[in-house]
Amino acid sequence: MNGWIQAGSVEELRDQGPKLIKGGIVVFYHEDQVHALDNRCPHLGFPLHMGSLCNGILTCHWHHARFDVCSGERSTLGQMMFLYTILPFMTD
Ligand code: FES
Repeated sequence: MNGWIQAGSVEELRDQGPKLIKGGIVVFYHEDQVHALDNRCPHLGFPLHMGSLCNGILTCHWHHARFDVCSGERSTLGQMMFLYTILPFMTD
C-alpha cells in the first residue's frame, strides 16, 4: 500500500480508544467517525494520545490546549492541528 498506513478496523478503534500508529499519527474514534491527527501538540509537543477526548474536544494534558478533532481548530493555547485523511476499506 504505497503511502497508506493501516490503522485497524473501525471496531478496534471504537473499542480501544486513541491509537498511536506509524509516523507519529494518533487515531481517534468519535461519534461514528475516525479522525487522525499529528500526535505532537502544536504548543510544545506533548504526545496527544495521552490527552483526553470529550464531546469532540481533545485536551492536551500538559498545558491544557484544546482542539476540535473534526476540524483541527484550537479552542485555547497553541495552533491548529494537522489532520490526516482516513479512508475506510473492507478487509474481507
Ligand atoms: S504541549 Fe500541549 S498545551 Fe502545551
